[in-house]
Amino acid sequence: MESVRNTELRPDALASERDRAWFQEARYGLFLHWGLYSILGRGEWARNREQIPADEYHTLADRFTGAGFNARDWAAFAAASGMRYAVLTTKHHDGFCLWNSKVCAFNSVSSAAKRDFVAEFVEAFRAEGLRVGLYYSLGDWDQPDWSRAVHGDVAAQVRFAETTRAMVEELVTQYGKIDVMWYDLPQGLSAAQWRAKELNAMVRQHQPGILINNRSMLAEDFSISEQNSNSPHMGRMWEACMTLNESWAYVDGDKDFKTPRQVARTLAKISSNGGNLLLNVGPDAAGRIPDESRQIVERVGAWLETNREAIEAKPVDRLPFNLWGSTLAAENRMYLFLERYFGSELHIGGLVPNVTDAKLLGYPANLTWERRGDQTIIRGLPADDPDDILTVLRLDLDGTPDQEISRVISGADIMARFPD
Ligand code: GLC
Repeated sequence: MESVRNTELRPDALASERDRAWFQEARYGLFLHWGLYSILGRGEWARNREQIPADEYHTLADRFTGAGFNARDWAAFAAASGMRYAVLTTKHHDGFCLWNSKVCAFNSVSSAAKRDFVAEFVEAFRAEGLRVGLYYSLGDWDQPDWSRAVHGDVAAQVRFAETTRAMVEELVTQYGKIDVMWYDLPQGLSAAQWRAKELNAMVRQHQPGILINNRSMLAEDFSISEQNSNSPHMGRMWEACMTLNESWAYVDGDKDFKTPRQVARTLAKISSNGGNLLLNVGPDAAGRIPDESRQIVERVGAWLETNREAIEAKPVDRLPFNLWGSTLAAENRMYLFLERYFGSELHIGGLVPNVTDAKLLGYPANLTWERRGDQTIIRGLPADDPDDILTVLRLDLDGTPDQEISRVISGADIMARFPD
C-alpha cells in the first residue's frame, strides 16, 4: 500500500475542519488491546507489575499464534454494532510490535504467528468502511534506552527519540491511509525530549488529515478522558476511552461487565457533551473477542439502529442538569435520554423555545405538549418505560434549546461540594 503525500501541507498544522468532521460525527469506536500479554491473561501491565524478566517475557512470542485472529470478523462486529472507527494497540508498553518492523525485532512477524496484524487490521476495517486508528505506546519496557532516558541520560533520550520516530514512520507509511494516531505513556519525558513536534510533523507529512491525540505531551487535535465520561476541555474535540469490564487486555476472570444499558447511557452522556466513546474489548490469547463482550456490544448496536440520530446530532450547547438524565441540545432540537423514566408525563423546567413537534424514537405514541408558565409538559408517553436499554424523546423547537433554570451547580458539582 502506498502512503499519501501532500507537499502543500503545513506539517505542523492541526487537521482542518473538513478532516475533523468524521470524528465529530463518529461518536462511537472500538478500542482493542491485544498483544503478548493476552496470553498471560492478567492484563497488559503484567510484564512490569510482576517484574517478568525480559528473556522469559520474550518466550511468549513462541506461543503467540493468532490462531483465532480474524480482522474481518472484528471489523464486521464493529460495523454491525454501530461503531465508526477502531483503534488497535500496535505496540503496548511491553514493546511487542504487531507489525512487520525493521526497527523493532520483537514483533509478530518474528513470532509463532508470522503475520503482520496491523496490515490485516487496517485492511479489514477499511473494507468495512470504518476509520482506523493506531495506538502506539511511546514508553517501552523492552528498550533499555527508554528507562535510561526517563532517568536523565541525555544520549539515551536522543537515541530513543530517533528509534521512536523510525517505528512510528513505519506505521504511517506501510499501511495506506491512517485516520488516528493514538499515543500513550509519554510520561517521564517532555515534548522536547520526545521531539514530539518533529515526530508529529513527520506523521502529518505522510498522513495529511490524520488526527493525533494529546498523549505525546502536546495538545494536538483531540483530548482523551480515560475511564471518565466527563468532557476534559470545552471547545475541543475529545474522546472518552473506557473498558467494557475492568480490564483493558484480556482477563478471563474479570466478569465485571457494564450492562448494555450502562454503555448506552454513557454514550448518550458523552455525545451530549460533544465527545466520542472509544469502547474497549480485550481479545483472548488467540485473538477472539470474548462472547460476553460481543453480546453486550451487539445489544447496544441494536439500540443504536433506532437511536443513532440522537447520538449523532451536533450539540450546540450544554443544558443545565435535568432529572431524567442526559440531553443533547442540537440546532432547534433536543434529544432527551430518559435514563430515569417518570411515566406518561414529563415536565421540563424553564424551556425557552416552544416545542413544535415531539416524537419517541422507535415507539408509536401520540404525544402532546403544553406550556404552563415556566414549565413545558409533554403528555402521552407510555406509562411504563418502553425500552429496556434507553428511551429517547426527540423535541423539535422553534429556536435554539435553552433552559432558564439555575446553571450555578451541576449534578456533579453537588457531589463535589463537601470537604473531605
Ligand atoms: C491505562 C492503562 C493502559 C491503557 C490505557 C488506555 O493508562 O494503564 O495500559 O492502554 O489506560 O488509555
